[in-house]
Amino acid sequence: MSPTAPDTTVVVPTFNEGGNVEILVRRLSTALERPETAEVLFVDDSTDDTPDRVREVARQGHPVRVRLLHRAPGERVGGLAGAVTAGIRDSRASFVVVMDGDLQHPPELVPALRHAAEDADVVVASRYTGDGDAGGLAGSWRRSVSGVSTMLARACFPKRIGRLCTDPMTGFFCLRRAAVDTDRLRPRGFKILLEVLARHDLRVLELPFAFGVRHDGESKASWRNGLHFLHQLVSLRMGRMSRFAVVGALGALVNLAVMWALVAVATPYVAAAVVAAEVSILHNFLLSERFVFHDLRDGVHPWWSRALQFFAFNNIETALRLPALVALVSLTGLHPVAAQAVTIAVAFVVRFLFVSRVVYRG
Ligand code: GDD
Ligand code: MN
Repeated sequence: MSPTAPDTTVVVPTFNEGGNVEILVRRLSTALERPETAEVLFVDDSTDDTPDRVREVARQGHPVRVRLLHRAPGERVGGLAGAVTAGIRDSRASFVVVMDGDLQHPPELVPALRHAAEDADVVVASRYTGDGDAGGLAGSWRRSVSGVSTMLARACFPKRIGRLCTDPMTGFFCLRRAAVDTDRLRPRGFKILLEVLARHDLRVLELPFAFGVRHDGESKASWRNGLHFLHQLVSLRMGRMSRFAVVGALGALVNLAVMWALVAVATPYVAAAVVAAEVSILHNFLLSERFVFHDLRDGVHPWWSRALQFFAFNNIETALRLPALVALVSLTGLHPVAAQAVTIAVAFVVRFLFVSRVVYRG
């Protein structure tokens, strides 16, 4: 046991990475100038024998100290990002380096990251600056997804990310521990740096690095990470009302798609419109439950009662929209399209007020 807090904690999230643990610790021990001032903290959610492998390596006694934070099935919240957050929270060091456990992140870069952090709050190992390289991203599909999501994230946060960071999706960086408030983070999915940058005003530095190929085992990324990422962007960027607007806009697309499909199979268009309206209301209800009012659901009336109110209100509103349009045009002489825009805007606000004040009222 080291009596004083280490200077640096290297947080390594692991999910079934048994074959990579020892070589990672060996390479870190060699790379670090003063390995005795650092520790490696494996935050592990594995379902295989990885924790045993970590304990074994800790027993071997390497120059750098090895610790294990194994999360039991019930504690595995937030996946990779949740594991990293737990590691940062657990660290008593002044600096925290975060890196993957599969050696796609070269341990040899860790000293340079730590050194650069003397003059910054976060030092990002970037694949997209200088002679950085994303070569280890398998396949052109994965590479384009990464490129597009990087652009999207930078565009959403021009000040905190766009101007400062070329690779907000990287999982390799060094933080000044005191600059980050872990209670502010809402970890989910894979993108922990994005979460950190978007929620703090940080001094950012970057170092280029070449994203290598995985040493052993296989990637845990999946299409679900893409959904997590979009959800994360929306919730970081927007308040409840904007999320509600996004759901409403998606609902309009659902409405049109259903209408188109039904008309294509020769359904009378009025019947098609009615079915399309109900399907889009159902869509809006389900997405609102999950993404807009998820934090207010408990402690209000049961779901079927919320659904009933939601459907009733939306049906009345849809039915009233047409006479309201006619009244507006004939009373004000407004152009029908402008009048329609007014009814849509008013309906949006009224719907939001009704749903938040009545359906999800605590
Ligand atoms: N504790 C824990 N829990 N660790 C996890 C989990 C989890 O649920 N899921 C994955 N990990 C660990 C893996 O064991 C590995 O050490 C690291 O997180 C990265 O996972 P990979 O499965 O190797 O992901 P990748 O190589 O596809 O993605 C990496 O590159 C992306 C850039 O394209 C990660 O660094 C991403 O954060 C990064 O965005
Ligand atoms: Mn990997």
